[in-house]
Amino acid sequence: MRVLGIESSCDDTAAAVYDSSSGLLSSVVSSQVPVHSLYGGVVPELASREHIRSIVPIIERALADAGSGREDIDGVAVTAGPGLIGSLLVGLCFAKSLAYSWGKPLYGADHLEAHIFSIFLESEVEFPFLALLVSGGHTSLFRVSGWEEVSFLGGTLDDAAGEAVDKAAKLLGLGYPGGAAIDRIAQEGDPGRFAFPRAWLAPGSADFSFSGLKTSLRVFLSTPEGKGSRVEDIAASFQEAVVDVLVGKTLQAAKREGVLRVVLAGGVSANTRLRSRVGEDGNRDGIAVYLPSSSLCTDNAAMVALLGERRLSTGRASGPDLNAYAASRFSR
Ligand code: KG4
Ligand code: ZN
Repeated sequence: MRVLGIESSCDDTAAAVYDSSSGLLSSVVSSQVPVHSLYGGVVPELASREHIRSIVPIIERALADAGSGREDIDGVAVTAGPGLIGSLLVGLCFAKSLAYSWGKPLYGADHLEAHIFSIFLESEVEFPFLALLVSGGHTSLFRVSGWEEVSFLGGTLDDAAGEAVDKAAKLLGLGYPGGAAIDRIAQEGDPGRFAFPRAWLAPGSADFSFSGLKTSLRVFLSTPEGKGSRVEDIAASFQEAVVDVLVGKTLQAAKREGVLRVVLAGGVSANTRLRSRVGEDGNRDGIAVYLPSSSLCTDNAAMVALLGERRLSTGRASGPDLNAYAASRFSR
């Protein structure tokens, strides 16, 4: 089965083609960073307008790169939520019309599930595994026991880790989006130079909190020490506080669940320090760690096409009443 995947949940317009026997045939992502960087964050209305502009050329390119025409496509998958509702609706309405006019089945994919299963584009992972989804909008832990069995263990009570690094980058004057900039500059700094707070919460809790850490950075930067210190050391120390909590809580949860495999997903899992720390600490604890390559950590449609292929192959097509949803469907 060959599936066209479409993703437009936030500020990337993406399309990809995945084939059951040949694997990923194409993956195209159009970023809106230049549009939103003027404002220091994603402006929802502008994001929707950019999706409208990009969606046709991006899909045409994904089909051309895959050497596929409409006759080769057996189904269409699209991100239905969670995300920015206007952005989601652009992709969803387009995918619905395409599937209807081509006479193909449609699957409405959950963005979080698509991230979680993106590892299967590159590796086979045995079930069950623990997944840490860490992005601009989400920081959550899941126990994944099968393609249909994803259970939520905990998530952030306030900011997502990506939101925290993006805000830190803004405070440090590193521009938008800041995650990759913090990652780069932190490589020249000392991660032990400043002790920023780590929110471990109650013992055994799989929840996260990053808003206090963000505030402590803002307060620190207003002190004489903060003003006089190297930005590299501040970035490295801030990033270390985020990484310590992400790695510590993920491995603790894996041990508690008796699961010896951990998968990372989402934009922040592209972070160099997080990748090396989770690998080293996992190794020490006898836990195998699986990391998607960086281009599959951030938003893409390859993960949507793959999930669509799995679900459509098992007869799980969505009906014509498929609608977009803004909030996560996962909760305790
Ligand atoms: O998964 P994603 O592309 O979009 C969402 O679904 O949110 O994640 C975007 C987030 C942003 O906060 C961005 O700053 C962060 O991922 N990010 C990184 C890195 N690359 C992207 N954070 C830390 N280090 C990176 N190398
Ligand atoms: Zn995402």
